[in-house]
Amino acid sequence: MSMTIVVTGASGRMGSEVLDGARERGMDAIAVSRTESTNADSKRRATSGTDAYHPDDLQSLLSEYRPDALVDFTVPEASIEFLDACVETGTPAVVGTTGFEAAELETIDRTSDRIPVLKAANFARGIQTLLALVRETAASLPQYDVELTETHHNGKRDAPSGTAKSLLEIFDEERVHGREGIQPRNEDEIGVHVRRAGNVRGEHELLFAGNDEVLTLTHRAESRHVFAAGALDAAEWVSKQKAGRYEFREVLA
Ligand SMILES: NC(=O)c1ccc[n+]([C@@H]2O[C@H](COP(=O)([O-])OP(=O)(O)OC[C@H]3O[C@@H](n4cnc5c(N)ncnc54)[C@H](OP(=O)(O)O)[C@@H]3O)[C@@H](O)[C@H]2O)c1
Repeated sequence: MSMTIVVTGASGRMGSEVLDGARERGMDAIAVSRTESTNADSKRRATSGTDAYHPDDLQSLLSEYRPDALVDFTVPEASIEFLDACVETGTPAVVGTTGFEAAELETIDRTSDRIPVLKAANFARGIQTLLALVRETAASLPQYDVELTETHHNGKRDAPSGTAKSLLEIFDEERVHGREGIQPRNEDEIGVHVRRAGNVRGEHELLFAGNDEVLTLTHRAESRHVFAAGALDAAEWVSKQKAGRYEFREVLA
């Protein structure tokens, strides 16, 4: 039997990509979107041409359709509300939204006592490899200066990116966000540089420099398809798990 998923933020850059990807896989994908209503029972049409429901109706939608998973790429405040509806209906959740505050992350942790929750700042497979390579490089070149640069499209809200934060967690050093004026580099700092321009899908570069040499590790997503495909893999995986908090690397393993 084919899987049924609910996609929130369905008219967004990522939500529409997830809907398209789900259809390509033969999944039943139900769209949830705030886009203007086209008929009285609140069913609506998202940009990718799928009937969509208003977020206010999410809980009744989940109760009625009992989907295998919900996939969310929206904004933190909406994600937290959507997770409430998942808890009320026992729906497994994949959260791709980034930019959560500490209190919201604690809420997500509590949610995962009740339902399976897989949250990842980046659903590209290559990012898991980048994380492993950066850990290895940091361990083998501990004296080298490290600087991180990330670039995303001009519509991205949060900075630095969730992926940049995951990469920075590998290091103990203090973070310096850009530099200006007289600000010589401190031995124990990592410079974090954020660029927002055009339609760049997502690029992360770690630069290690010392001993008269420079090593850079770069990941570049060339389409949003990679994130959508990873999120759909995660949805298939998480729908079979018991309540708990899961990482994308567990899906790949
Ligand atoms: N984990 C990953 O691999 C990955 C990859 C790319 C992006 N992201 C993250 O995914 C999130 C979305 O990115 P995006 O580029 O798709 O953004 P986007 O194009 O702005 O889409 C976000 C969508 O969220 C919905 N939304 C916004 N505010 C809402 C609210 N208050 N209540 C309910 N729904 C709301 C809207 O959908 P409707 O108009 O349909 O209601 C909006 O189109 C961001 O946090 C981004 O950093 C993660």
